[in-house]
Amino acid sequence: MNWGMRNRMSRIINPKTKSCVMLAVDHGYFQGPTTGLRNLAKAVDPLLPYADALMIARGGLRNWITHDMDKPIVLRVSGGQSVLKELSNEVITTSIDSAIRLNASAVTCSVYVGGEYEKETIHNLAKLVNEAEKYGIPVLAVTAVGKEMARDARYLGLASRICIETGAHMIKTYYCDGFEDVVEACGNAPVVIAGGKKMPEREALQMAYDAVSKGASGVDMGRNIFQSDSPVSMIKAVRGIVHDKISVDEAYNIYEQGKKAK
Ligand code: R5P
Repeated sequence: MNWGMRNRMSRIINPKTKSCVMLAVDHGYFQGPTTGLRNLAKAVDPLLPYADALMIARGGLRNWITHDMDKPIVLRVSGGQSVLKELSNEVITTSIDSAIRLNASAVTCSVYVGGEYEKETIHNLAKLVNEAEKYGIPVLAVTAVGKEMARDARYLGLASRICIETGAHMIKTYYCDGFEDVVEACGNAPVVIAGGKKMPEREALQMAYDAVSKGASGVDMGRNIFQSDSPVSMIKAVRGIVHDKISVDEAYNIYEQGKKAK
């Protein structure tokens, strides 16, 4: 790995703690104005001080995020489909030149292993790695799971490993039973978990705790933070688990106390 890529990676994954709380707010690229993200600035501004990196698409960044923000950007560069159509039918939407102009610290695309457009999305990742590596920009591969796929260790291990073998430098996947096998399938690459659909706060914190205990470098969480009734308290609680290795009870207490103080 060259110096530039290592430097960018260490802006995202803290090199001392090997941990990361990434805030995912890229949902609009196929979901439109997602609940909690109708006004991206309103959602993101209070959360940014507690996030290590921001996962966002080009238009989200340009329209809602002020240029003086100092967090590394993990730029969503795949899309081209919507919730109304086949989700795996993605292309690369944002050029590497555009990512560089936006000062992205990493670029990210989804890979739909087992999906109708499996080959195309793996090819998207391969092309993205080829382009991004020219400029020392790391690639985060997201193992997107179609409705027909089971979110188990066998499937997520398969999908994650294919992304690693294709050249991804970081993996975003889902937590599952046997998660340690998924992490092992990714070798030395950092693995972060998506939060998935909104669930009760304690359950989301338990999931983050279990993932970190089983080898995840942290989270790339969206809805379970910005759709919480107290998003700032929730991201602080997640941060406690990821960076300070506190217990679920302690983290839940951070959330509860913050919610009361609102
Ligand atoms: C989906 O592919 C997007 O990358 C989302 O940003 C991702 O799923 C993470 O968000 P959430 O924690 O809401 O699942």
